[in-house]
Amino acid sequence: MKRNLTYIVAGLLLGTSIVAQAGPAEDRSALIDYYKQILPDIKFENYIYGALAMNPDAKSQYDDFMAFPSYSIDLDKGQKAWETPFKNGKKFSSCFPNGGKNVAGNYPYFDNASNRVVTFENAINACLKANGEEELKYGESEMGLLTAYARSLSDGMKVNVKVKGKGALAAYEKGKTYYATRNGQLNFACSTCHIDNAGKFIRSDQLSMMIGQASHWPEFRGGTDIVTLQGRFKQCEKNVRATPKKADSEEYNNLEYYLTYMSNGLPMQTPVFRK
Ligand code: HEC
Repeated sequence: MKRNLTYIVAGLLLGTSIVAQAGPAEDRSALIDYYKQILPDIKFENYIYGALAMNPDAKSQYDDFMAFPSYSIDLDKGQKAWETPFKNGKKFSSCFPNGGKNVAGNYPYFDNASNRVVTFENAINACLKANGEEELKYGESEMGLLTAYARSLSDGMKVNVKVKGKGALAAYEKGKTYYATRNGQLNFACSTCHIDNAGKFIRSDQLSMMIGQASHWPEFRGGTDIVTLQGRFKQCEKNVRATPKKADSEEYNNLEYYLTYMSNGLPMQTPVFRK
């Protein structure tokens, strides 16, 4: 009898420690299971369409728009910026493996040497710096257009963010905590809308699930306004009357790391149109 009790207590303790050790892969599969339950009609591969995946009319308008996107002229500017040589004659393509093709899905990654998350925008700026050029302001339209083109070189690549090692896990956990922390006058967490209430309407907007949200940035809203992923974080925070963090802040980079990890396995497509 006594032995049995010890066994049960040990089992309970073991159970707790398993929960405490649940890592990114477990987080992701638990979320996928959850979304399958609350939104059984949406196929996993359609998560990249976010709220459009819940509304066939909106999705068909989107498909029409994407056949002849009005942002293609802007994208040409991004291409020019990517292809124009630096003063030293080198180009952006020299900073990335494979000339920059099929690489963007590996970002953000955790850099152990600098003990921080490195976003694709950070890598673009590191490239400029290494070549004696001035860095671009993160999130401004110049960076937006450049990364819209640079990321389009990875269209079709599956998001492939890795969380390995202590530092990486700590950054991931910070992003995850941020995501679940209530904030702002309206006291909403990101998770309140995009996990708890995914699929429901808030005013005229249907709420997308967070898996699939990170695979297609920047977006052109209304067809012409360019919005980066961290720019979208700011908008969501303003909507709940919270004070947004700065683009490229440690908080937003960790948040982007966590959010993008959750889109692992889904194909990249850049840029895309949203209303
Ligand atoms: C009050 C509800 C609400 C909260 C809280 C909220 N969002 Fe949103 N979010 C929206 C709405 C509405 C949209 C536009 C419709 C959609 O795509 O879900 C949106 C869109 C997004 C998108 C773009 C999806 C796409 O494919 O275009 C991302 C990314 C996003 N939110 C991330 C976040 C993050 C990160 C937080 C926390 C910092 C957050 N949101 C908090 C309501 C919210």
